[in-house]
Amino acid sequence: MEITLLPNGEYRLASMGKEALFSFPLPTCIHLREPDAKPSRLIGKLILLNDEITYRVEGEDAVIETPFLRVEVDKDLRLKAFFNGETVLEEAPFLPKEEEKGGMSLKSSRPVYGLGDKTGPLDKRGYSYINWNSDVPEAHVDTTPSLYKSINFFLLFDGGASMGVFLDNSCKTRFDFNKTVKDEVRFSFDGGTKDVYFFFGSLPEVIAAYTALLGRSPLPPRFSLGAQQSRWSYGSKEDVEKVIAGYKKAGLPLTTIYLDIDYMDHFKDFTVNEETFPDIRNWLAEKKKEGIHIIPIIDAGVKAEVGYRVYDEGIADHHFCTLNGEVYHNEVWPGDSVFPAFPEVGTRIWWSMYVRDFLRFGFDGIWNDMNEPASFKGPLPLNVDMGGIPHAEAHNLYAHYMNQATHMGFLAAQKRPYIVTRAGCAGTQRFAATWTGDNQSTWDHLRLMIPQLCNLSLSGFACAGVDIGGFGGDSTPELIARWAEASLFNPIYRNHSAIHTLPQEPYLLEEEEFLAYKNALMIRYQLIPSLYTALFEAESAGKIALGPLIYNFPKDERAKNENTELMLGEQWLLAPALFPGQQSRSVYFPCAFYRYSDGQRFKKGDQLVPCPLGNIPLFQREQSVVVLPQKKEKHIDFPTVLRLRWTEDGLAKTLYYEDEGEGLGYQKGEYNLFEISVSKEDGLAIVPLHQGMKSHIQEIVLESVTGEILLKKAY
Ligand code: GLC
Repeated sequence: MEITLLPNGEYRLASMGKEALFSFPLPTCIHLREPDAKPSRLIGKLILLNDEITYRVEGEDAVIETPFLRVEVDKDLRLKAFFNGETVLEEAPFLPKEEEKGGMSLKSSRPVYGLGDKTGPLDKRGYSYINWNSDVPEAHVDTTPSLYKSINFFLLFDGGASMGVFLDNSCKTRFDFNKTVKDEVRFSFDGGTKDVYFFFGSLPEVIAAYTALLGRSPLPPRFSLGAQQSRWSYGSKEDVEKVIAGYKKAGLPLTTIYLDIDYMDHFKDFTVNEETFPDIRNWLAEKKKEGIHIIPIIDAGVKAEVGYRVYDEGIADHHFCTLNGEVYHNEVWPGDSVFPAFPEVGTRIWWSMYVRDFLRFGFDGIWNDMNEPASFKGPLPLNVDMGGIPHAEAHNLYAHYMNQATHMGFLAAQKRPYIVTRAGCAGTQRFAATWTGDNQSTWDHLRLMIPQLCNLSLSGFACAGVDIGGFGGDSTPELIARWAEASLFNPIYRNHSAIHTLPQEPYLLEEEEFLAYKNALMIRYQLIPSLYTALFEAESAGKIALGPLIYNFPKDERAKNENTELMLGEQWLLAPALFPGQQSRSVYFPCAFYRYSDGQRFKKGDQLVPCPLGNIPLFQREQSVVVLPQKKEKHIDFPTVLRLRWTEDGLAKTLYYEDEGEGLGYQKGEYNLFEISVSKEDGLAIVPLHQGMKSHIQEIVLESVTGEILLKKAY
C-alpha cells in the first residue's frame, strides 16, 4: 500500500496495481474516485482540505484521519470509515466484485431515504430503482422504476450518525436498497466511472453538507407561495380572466396562473398566440397590478419550421442535438421537433437570451416541461450528440442544463428566479423548483405525495409540489378538497389537471367541498410566514421546509417510516385525511402538540383525531412560537402586524425572515432576520440577527394557542 498527497490536494492510494483517489471537500465528506474519472459536471471546483488531515500506512492498511473522520483502506482497496469514533461504513469494496462491474455495494440495514421523488414509501429498504429521466404518463405505483428526475443521492439513516451517498455519474444508474441482499445496498452505473461522495453527520447535517456541494434551492419569490391555478389549457385571455373572476367571486385568494401549451403559436417556444392572447405585455402588467402572476410553459422540443426564429437561429448557429452529423428530429407537441443541445454552454447562453426577453414581456416565472427530454416517436438514440456529450451520458443532465439556461435568463432580466421543472438531476435544485409530473386523480396518488415530497426535500429539493387534485383522469370533488388540505405545507401549491378531464377549479365545487378547499387555502395563507422563513433557511443553511417527522425526531423509532404525516420546519405537523369518507384518523405525535383549530393539547403517542372534511389535523409543537399574519389574510404581503402564537409551556424560539418578496436584493443583504424568543421568565424578545432594510413590522401581538391576546405592542 502506498499513499501520496498529490499537488491538487487529493490522496492517491495504490495497492497491488490498483489505484483510487481520495479527498476531503468538507470536514465531514470523503470523495472517492477512480483515477480516470472526469471532472464533475455538477459540482464546481472544490478547495480540498488538507490541514488537520493526517495519513499513514499501518501494516497493510492506509489510514487517513480528519478531526471527525477516520478512513481505513485495506490492500484490496476495501474501505472502512468511522465518524466520531462510530463505524459508519463497513468494508465497502471500492473495486467492484466481478459480478457487478461499475458499481459498489455497502453493508447496511439502516433506513434509506432520498433518491428524489421515487415511488414507494419514505424508507426505501426492499425497493430497487433506475435513474433514467422518464416521462411516465400512466399512474406511478410502488414498482415504477424511473420517473422524471434522476437524483443519485441517498441516505443511510441512523439516529446517531447518518451517511449520505452521492454518485456523480450521469449515465443510467441503478439502486438496490436491501432488496436482493438483505443487509446490502448496491448501486451501479451503465457507463462512466466510479465517483462517489460520502457525507457523515446527523440527518440535517448530511443534507446541509450535500447541498453545500451540489447547491441549494434558492428562496422563491413571495407570490409563488400563494394559491396557484393551472389547467391544460386555459386557451385564451378570456379563459384566464374567467378563472381569476371565479376565484374572486368565491372569495378565494389567488396569486398565480400557469399558461399551458395552448398560449403559444402552434406550440412554438417563446411565441404567444396573438389572437387568443392579444397585447400580452399590457395584459400581464394589468394582472400584476391585481396581484396575479402569470407563468408560461416552455417545452424542450423546438418546432422544426423554417421561418420560426428559434429554429432558424438554432440551425444557423448549431444549437441543436445531432445524430451522425445531422440535426436530430423527433416529435413532441409541435410535431416535428429538434432539441437544443443544452449541455453546450453556447447553447445555454443563446437560450437564456430568449428567456430574458420573454420575461421582459412581464412573465414572473417559467415552467420547464418535457425536458427528460420526452419524445413521442420513440426514445432518442443513445448516440445522439448533445453538445459534445453522447445522449447516454447527457440524458440525465439535459433538463439540468435547460434549467441552468433558464436561470441565466432570469439573472439577465434581474428577476428573482422562479422556475418549475419536471425533469432534473442532483443539483438542479439550485436553478429550479420542481413538481412530481403527471400524477393521477386517485387516492393512491394523494397518499404517494407525502413520501415523494419528503424524499425530495431530503434530496436537496426544498421547493417542490405536486398537481393538487391530480393531473390525469377525473378527480372527485372530495378528492380535490382533501388534496387541498393535505398540501398545506407544499412549497408549490398548484392545482393542475390534464386536457379532457373534469374541471378542478375550487370555485366550481359543491358547497361542502368548496368550503373545505377554501378553509385549506385560508390556513395555507396563515402558514406563509413560516414557509417563507423555512425556505430562506433552506437556501442559507441547507435546512428543509416540508419534511418527514424523522428529520426533527431522529431518535424516535416510530418516525422512521411515517408515511401519512409531515412537518413544516420544526413547529408544524400535518396529519391529513387520505381516504374517501374518512371521519377520523390515528395520529402519531412524537411529542406533545396543540391543535391549530382550537388549541387542544395532544400528548406524545398515538391518538384518534377527528378529520371530517373541512377539519384539518394541523398541530403546533409544544414549547414553540409561530408567526402568523392577520386573521383571514388573503394576501401574501409581509404582515405589518405580527401575530405570535405561543404554547406558553416553556422557552420558545423561532426565526422570522422578511425582505422585498421579489428581486435579488436579499442576496446583497437587503433583508431582515429576527430571532423571536418568549418565556414566562423573560417575556418576549425580538432580536434582529440581520437588519438590511426597513422592517414591514409595525405591531406585535402575542397570543395563546386559543387566540387569547397576551401582549400587544408597537414595533
Ligand atoms: C406534460 C406536463 C403537464 C402539461 C402537459 C401539456 O404532460 O407534465 O403538466 O399539462 O404536458 O403541456
